Amino acid sequence: MKNLAINGGAKTIEKDFAWPIFDETDVQAVADIVQSGKWGNPDCAGEVAALEKNFAAYCGTKYALTCVNGSVALRLALIACGVKPGDEVIVPPYTFIATASIVIESNCVPVFVDIDPRTYNLDASKIEAAITPRTKAIIPVHFAGQACEMDEIMAIAKKHGVRVIEDACHGHGAEYKGKKLGSVGDVGCFSFQSSKNLTSGEGGMIITNDEELYQMMNSLRNVGRVEGGAWYEHHYAGCNYRITQLQAVLLSTQLTRLEEQTRRRHENGTYLNGLLEKIDGITPLTRGLGETLHSYHIYIFKYDRSKFNGLSKVEFSRMLAAEGVPCFMGYPEPLYKQPLFQKKNFMCYALPETVDYTQVKCPVTEKACYEEAVWIFQNTMLGTREDMNLFAAAIRKIQQAVVGN
Ligand SMILES: Cc1ncc(COP(=O)(O)O)c(C=O)c1O
Repeated sequence: MKNLAINGGAKTIEKDFAWPIFDETDVQAVADIVQSGKWGNPDCAGEVAALEKNFAAYCGTKYALTCVNGSVALRLALIACGVKPGDEVIVPPYTFIATASIVIESNCVPVFVDIDPRTYNLDASKIEAAITPRTKAIIPVHFAGQACEMDEIMAIAKKHGVRVIEDACHGHGAEYKGKKLGSVGDVGCFSFQSSKNLTSGEGGMIITNDEELYQMMNSLRNVGRVEGGAWYEHHYAGCNYRITQLQAVLLSTQLTRLEEQTRRRHENGTYLNGLLEKIDGITPLTRGLGETLHSYHIYIFKYDRSKFNGLSKVEFSRMLAAEGVPCFMGYPEPLYKQPLFQKKNFMCYALPETVDYTQVKCPVTEKACYEEAVWIFQNTMLGTREDMNLFAAAIRKIQQAVVGN
């Protein structure tokens, strides 16, 4: 055990993985906007409109709309889909809180459906049992950048007349059967928060092919204004959810790198899978259920403590991080275990008294949180093959140290 970096031994990998990645082009683009003095975006025009046009073309959709962040993107999508107070929205419990909290903010009821143990995405085979006459939408999250089973999800949605809002906040540039994530459902939502694979510090984007949804979301993000209307003419209960020209130019320069970066992450992720599946007690998530390009916003593998002399996942993650592998134990618990849901700490006036999140149990998510899932961060997936070899070597080093052979 003395040779482990956590105990003062040499680290397996000595490298800083940069993020965000930028050069003079980004700096100059932002400097040009600063010098122009046109920082804001009152008409959703200029650099913002140019970015939206490029992003829609990149994703293969008719429309793309920027907004302040991924949470707002999801909320505007939900409202535009016509949800009413008390409607139910199906969400996975293994995701960032915003996927479910925007449902509450919209006065609707999040209904948690467990994830698939193979992919950690919403389990398509469990969705139908959760649908009721009040269900209005499903929000599949392409978790970590791996595509959900969209054919199955779209078929269920069509059968029951519900909308599909793809949470593609981890899925920039990734693909399902050759289509960019976010472009398969009714609406796709992205985050440009600082950890994301495409970032401007903060920001969001919504994509759709549906003109009616587009017009409504466009109005909602711009204080309820409508195209051709006057400045002080407000048709819907929207807010100022616009981004600045500074964010737009940064995203435009970052977007030119996204495809190459996504392919690099995909290749490294595939290579790392091959290395890790040879280690007893380490199982990479299953690939290939419709996914043709994985964006590896997170590289996830399953950890089995029984092959590591009972070492807990938390301790293992700490040891691996000390070895120089930027990693983390992931979500500590399923979303429904958060005080927000357990204590119903919200003002959702339409939530029926009968909804009780203390009774929810999603065993696959609980196992992922408490025992199994270990996350490696996306910027490392832009590294070299040798980096991937060292990640695997760090895990083997820990195993040898704790098992004692
Ligand atoms: C899966 C998922 N959905 C939604 C969001 C919300 O995005 P933002 O932080 O830009 O509001 C995030 C952000 O971390 C996310 O990871």
